[in-house]
Amino acid sequence: MSDKPVLLLTRKYSANTEARASRDYQVIFNPDDTVYSSDQLLEKCAGADAVIPCHSEHFNAVVAAQLPARVKIIANHSVGVDHCDLAALKARGVVVTNTPDVLSDATAEIGMLLMLGAARRASEGDRMMRQGKWDSWSPAFMVGTQVTGKRIGIVGMGRVGQVMAKRARGMDMEVHYFNRSRLPGDKEAGAIFHDQLDDLLAVADVLSLHCPTTPETTGFMTAEKFALLPDGAIFVNTARGALVDEEALVEALRSGKLAAAGLDVFVTEPGGNPKFATLENIFMLPHIGSATSQTRDAMGFRALDNIDAFFAGKEPKDRLV
Ligand code: DGY
Repeated sequence: MSDKPVLLLTRKYSANTEARASRDYQVIFNPDDTVYSSDQLLEKCAGADAVIPCHSEHFNAVVAAQLPARVKIIANHSVGVDHCDLAALKARGVVVTNTPDVLSDATAEIGMLLMLGAARRASEGDRMMRQGKWDSWSPAFMVGTQVTGKRIGIVGMGRVGQVMAKRARGMDMEVHYFNRSRLPGDKEAGAIFHDQLDDLLAVADVLSLHCPTTPETTGFMTAEKFALLPDGAIFVNTARGALVDEEALVEALRSGKLAAAGLDVFVTEPGGNPKFATLENIFMLPHIGSATSQTRDAMGFRALDNIDAFFAGKEPKDRLV
């Protein structure tokens, strides 16, 4: 009988992550990649000392209250932790970590793809080609929005926001940002800080969200906020769908207030918002911001690093509570 701690992997992780996990722990795998209900999650947790979940497993207050006492650490395979009730888990004495840094490049890549795809009508053009409907061309055909040299407004200038800013600078964009606090000069790298969100919105030809979902930020992009953007702005969201009032977004896209939106995240996941599918001016992806094999390995390893530290009696690097 091994004395290695038992580690529950709630989803199918990268082969390298699973190999390292099974080298160092007794692992409960999920080879079919089943999405566990709360009851199934609790049942699986009963046999585990540590858990690596994704944002698809909800450790809300109800689950936290029933979490078997054996579980000592939840090492998330995500940077976002809105699926975890941190206060409730802390109250149960459970350590919670996330995976910052390692997905910033991949997520910013998707941010750029969404910005460009939305601005240049990529899904509309792709659909037309696939359906064999491209039957004419004129100077007025499929005219989009040029973003080179425009102003990008970044909400949340953390790790992903900073990489997005860097990539946008590569397109000669003027970077503006709103953040809880102003960044030091080296991190700001010439970006223009706004201490009021509304001031940022007024200058954002492209608005890109990179902030966490908290009680304060949930639903902050309301009809009033969309109205503050310049006419014809592009809206990009790689953070979380819950930041946005999706009805207000639909209205802003229908009315032409926004030229287009690029979305990787939705209030309802998986699935998304069926109303979005009726709008030509949305370029959408199914929450794949961090989905590269390189980043998946890095996320799995970062979660394992946190668990290794915990069982070695050290402070996990990415401890949140
Ligand atoms: C994250 O890390 O938060 C990504 O959205 C994937 O869960």
